[in-house]
Amino acid sequence: MNQEQWAAVDHYITELLVSPDQVLEAALQTSAAAGLPPINVAPNQGKLLQLLATMQGAKNILEIGTLGGYSTIWLARALPPDGHLVTLEAEPLHASVAQKNISRAGLEKIVDLRLGPALATLKQLAAERREPFDFIFIDADKESYPDYFIWSLKLSRRGTCIIADNVVRNGAVIDPAHADPRVQGVRRFNELLAAEPRITATTVQTVGSKGYDGFTIAIVTADP
Ligand code: SAH
Ligand code: DHB
Ligand code: MG
Repeated sequence: MNQEQWAAVDHYITELLVSPDQVLEAALQTSAAAGLPPINVAPNQGKLLQLLATMQGAKNILEIGTLGGYSTIWLARALPPDGHLVTLEAEPLHASVAQKNISRAGLEKIVDLRLGPALATLKQLAAERREPFDFIFIDADKESYPDYFIWSLKLSRRGTCIIADNVVRNGAVIDPAHADPRVQGVRRFNELLAAEPRITATTVQTVGSKGYDGFTIAIVTADP
């Protein structure tokens, strides 16, 4: 089994089950044209996020790490017309590409894109004392996953679903001595998750067009 085969199967699944969509295609094309890295979720993973948010009946979604808005559009489309999605992005170029893609998708009233380091924005969101988020997608810098988890929990309620991307990293996650701080960030995130009594969680390994990685899926079981 190799990358070529994983990508071919992803292609097969996507052709069958993920409807072609000009707005999502345009989001990827404009992101590539602007030089953004191709580290968006795959189409079938975007659909997974959308399905999970729909199952959750989410009305308020938080996304940490917008890039060009690809996963943002998938998630925002799971929302009812009166729903809201807040997405956090530190890079002005990424945010500007994303804002155009969100507008092209007709989601500018639903999506609140906040430019700045996510940690600062998370503190601000907590200070705003808004209603808790129903669904949170963590996908920004891996070094900060432990902090993103702590803040996500603060911004949650009993029943909130927290998803984290890129938690397996080619299997690197099992190496306690790994030199990459991103791997150490994900390990620390896993340890916090494991030690947190208000969380029940699992991780699924994934292969596909984006290589070998994984998603953590967690539910908050008590009001934080
Ligand atoms: N969720 C996107 C991919 C996000 S890639 C998708 O699947 O389509 C990770 C993003 O996090 C990048 O755009 C990067 O600029 C952003 N990022 C990195 N560090 C950040 C930080 N400290 N605060 C906010 N965003 C950050
Ligand atoms: C990277 C970040 C991501 O969110 C992702 O899905 C893949 C790779 C990265 O920083 O390399
Ligand atoms: Mg990711």
